[in-house]
Amino acid sequence: MKQNILKLVALGLLVSTAFVIVTSLSNAQVAGDQNSGTTNTQGPPPEKTVEQVFKNIKVLNGMPQSQLYPAMRFMAASLGTQCGFCHIIKNGQIDSPADDKPEKQTAREMIRMVQEINKTIAQGNPEVSCFTCHRGRTSPQGFPTLPLPSPRSPNADGATSRTAPNSRLVMPSADDVLTRYINAIGGKEALDRIHSCVIKGTTSTASGKLVPYEADQMAPDKAYESFAIQGRIFERVINGLGGWSNNGEAVTELIGQQLADQKLSFPLFMILKLKDQYSSLRVSAQDKIDDRDVYVVTAIRSDNKRERLYFDVENGLLRRRISYAPTMIGIIPQQTDFEDYRDVQSLKLPFSIRASYVDAGSPPITRKFEEIKLNVPVDGARFEKPAARNTLSP
Ligand code: HEC
Ligand code: HEC
Repeated sequence: MKQNILKLVALGLLVSTAFVIVTSLSNAQVAGDQNSGTTNTQGPPPEKTVEQVFKNIKVLNGMPQSQLYPAMRFMAASLGTQCGFCHIIKNGQIDSPADDKPEKQTAREMIRMVQEINKTIAQGNPEVSCFTCHRGRTSPQGFPTLPLPSPRSPNADGATSRTAPNSRLVMPSADDVLTRYINAIGGKEALDRIHSCVIKGTTSTASGKLVPYEADQMAPDKAYESFAIQGRIFERVINGLGGWSNNGEAVTELIGQQLADQKLSFPLFMILKLKDQYSSLRVSAQDKIDDRDVYVVTAIRSDNKRERLYFDVENGLLRRRISYAPTMIGIIPQQTDFEDYRDVQSLKLPFSIRASYVDAGSPPITRKFEEIKLNVPVDGARFEKPAARNTLSP
């Protein structure tokens, strides 16, 4: 029973926050957007910090509130533990403000130390994180295991064996890779004609079950998706004014970079309007995913978030996207894999999208599509803010 309640709590947390990870840039970004005098005057309100929202914050002061749960999951994953390692769990409920556990106090010391190290070695950039030392264990290993493996020998040009093949290759430009991608999924003319997209299929949930899934999207900025777990409807909506997630009981406003993250989780924007989402793209390496060669493109999003895009060398298709959220305890990655490309009208689109999060114990969320319809009429009411009995502050 306890287990079940915990699972539901975990599920709720995952649903409300895991699809979206926000970076510390969000406050500055929002302020920047509001001051820039551009046409978008209805920007989202500035985000609160964790000490304004939670009860007992002593070291994470200044962190945007939407980063708290991703940061907690990151700490738990770095140590290979769960919330209960540092927090008291009473009657299946986490008492997160309570300070009774010595592990929570140690974690505060560790957070201070990580901030100190990064100030010293990286001008405050989150290069060193809990994971740097802990690597999935509560006690980091301080010495090597014997016997030692042989050191990797540098080759003739001094590069290590991993980067050696890359250094001999001539890399294409990011423009070439993007143009090949656009041609591979149907060509610019066909893509420019797409203004709406309706999807039906299934999604896996945090407990690994498959449930029906649907999504409606309309260029340039509207999207709706829904799925049901045990009769409860979960919805997410974005429109030009903002974004919301509804867990069937309460509506939570998407804030900060959650909005941009959310938009990029919808296929219309992520696949068909991919190029529009980035302000800078550069081919940085060649790598392999499942034995296939891929170009690695380092991308800066229009809201400054750093990402990596992986394009198949042979067929030009997008295979993977990783986005990196810098927080004061480290960089939190989130990975999306695109598979099972099929023909839809004159385009080629992925029918399986798998998102992996830093969240110990929860499997990746896989959306599998049964039907994708392009340029069909969409009910505009779907993109309105969902109605709910209460409004939660996240
Ligand atoms: C490695 C230890 C550790 C783990 C694991 C951990 N936390 Fe925390 N948590 C902390 C510390 C330390 C604080 C207080 C931070 C501060 O003082 O600034 C905290 C604070 C919180 C708060 C704010 C409480 C308040 O009102 O002040 C919440 C909520 C929270 N954690 C939830 C979680 C959840 C959910 C998980 C599991 C996904 C989790 N934590 C895992 C150490 C941990
Ligand atoms: C520079 C390396 C390093 C970094 C970075 C680091 N730790 Fe640690 N941590 C250690 C060492 C070493 C110990 C002591 C382990 C022992 O006593 O066996 C430890 C112990 C802990 C413990 C106590 C574990 C126990 O078994 O009671 C917690 C909790 C912890 N760290 C949390 C964190 C968190 C959270 C972060 C990121 C904010 C972090 N650590 C970052 C090195 C590190």
